[in-house]
Amino acid sequence: MKTLIVYFSATGTTKAAAQKLAKEFNADLYEITPEVPYSAADLDWRDKTSRSTIEMQDKTSRPAIKGRFIEAHDLSGKTLNVFATSGGSNVKDSYNDLKMAYPQYTWGESQLMN
Ligand SMILES: Cc1cc2nc3c(=O)[nH]c(=O)nc-3n(C[C@H](O)[C@H](O)[C@H](O)COP(=O)(O)O)c2cc1C
Repeated sequence: MKTLIVYFSATGTTKAAAQKLAKEFNADLYEITPEVPYSAADLDWRDKTSRSTIEMQDKTSRPAIKGRFIEAHDLSGKTLNVFATSGGSNVKDSYNDLKMAYPQYTWGESQLMN
């Protein structure tokens, strides 16, 4: 069964991790991109009013992405493994959030890539 590596990357770190995984698993790559790209100012975590700060504080906030991914595909019968990169946080919260949002799917392992 072919593996698909799906990733979102604001500054390129997760993209590099995804490319590494794709090579390792001989997998295809799919990049989720936002409808409105993030500027450097949007990504300033020290600014309490920046786009990323506001989005991170509001769990219901969900930036529009170009096209759709999970909602547009039936992933039944697949095992969904989660990976992430971070400055220091764990991947577990993201994994649990995804599991809760899409309980109909089979969730496998989670891995921090740095
Ligand atoms: C706006 C912003 C907020 C961030 N918040 C956190 C955080 O709360 N915890 C953490 O471990 N890393 C945090 N980071 C660091 C990124 O998660 C980390 O650099 C990650 O590897 C970036 O991945 P990317 O280059 O694929 O976007 C933050 C980075 C940005 C730009």
